[in-house]
Amino acid sequence: MNLEEATRSLKRDLIKLVRTKLSKQPFSRNELAEELQCDIASINSALKSLRSAGANISELIGGKLFLHSLLQQGGSLTLQAKDRGDGWTAVGIIADNHLGNRHSRLDVLNAAYDVYEREGVTAVLNAGNWVDGEARFNRHELIVAPGMDPQLDYAIENYPQRTGITTHYITGDDHEGWWIQRECVNVGEYFQMRAEKAGRKDLRYLGHVEADIRLKCGKGSAVGRLMHPGGGSAYALSYAPQKLVESFQGGEKPSVLWIGHYHKYDWCYPREVHCISAACTCDQSAFLRKNKIGVHVGFGITKFQQDKTDGHITRVQHEFFPYYDRGYYERRFG
Ligand SMILES: [Fe+2]
Repeated sequence: MNLEEATRSLKRDLIKLVRTKLSKQPFSRNELAEELQCDIASINSALKSLRSAGANISELIGGKLFLHSLLQQGGSLTLQAKDRGDGWTAVGIIADNHLGNRHSRLDVLNAAYDVYEREGVTAVLNAGNWVDGEARFNRHELIVAPGMDPQLDYAIENYPQRTGITTHYITGDDHEGWWIQRECVNVGEYFQMRAEKAGRKDLRYLGHVEADIRLKCGKGSAVGRLMHPGGGSAYALSYAPQKLVESFQGGEKPSVLWIGHYHKYDWCYPREVHCISAACTCDQSAFLRKNKIGVHVGFGITKFQQDKTDGHITRVQHEFFPYYDRGYYERRFG
């Protein structure tokens, strides 16, 4: 081993030690340096490496650092209403792509972005589960080598990219979120970082589980919320969105709520909130089949008009593009 290799190996060891220490209890930089008998510069360099690999390190009051498996929920984005020339602002709505799973429908996902491009959509909101993640019960359905990086790289290579379209995504606490829980990685941020390194600037991380989208218009604005809630599917399609809206505290209701997770399409209007369940671009997996959970494959476009003085929404349309089981197209056209 030459000197350069030895230095690299020492650096790797230090990164591992810092990671282990921080996952057990909070430490300040000075305490870490003392514990590991090195200087602050080496600690800072190890922290930088950990962060660039997505490590979810929080800074507590007093400067102590802690590595953990929980992410603060939430995020925000301001979208300036961009009239397409016909008086409507259009936003692409998509969710639950489950890339990396053999049932994922790349054909539908690509068709969605073809439509978005044609329809003058510049912003697409993705409500989470853009990859399948990895768990004990989905390994047999994965088409990508095990591990987080191979699956994220597969998504970077295969998630559609179109000139002038930016995809703003959130992370669910399941699927991509399993890595957050197991590896203490902020996978949404890490995915964006990795995509940027690969030359993709169109994939932008919004936040974990939910994000508020400020829809600006003139001097005013309206709030749209993008969510990947938890819990199982209910018998009635509108039940989960209704309960979700019921649970929002007074004063924090959005005008439009777009949700993923349930793999269903629905549009209901409880408490004057347009609740749009986004459907999915993945056929029924073995897990869903076993649990008798059906899926709606497809994607959507939400179009709206706003009042020019205070920004409140005056008109809404949601257009849904349905697709069927892959076999349907093979039988019909194959
Ligand atoms: Fe999902």
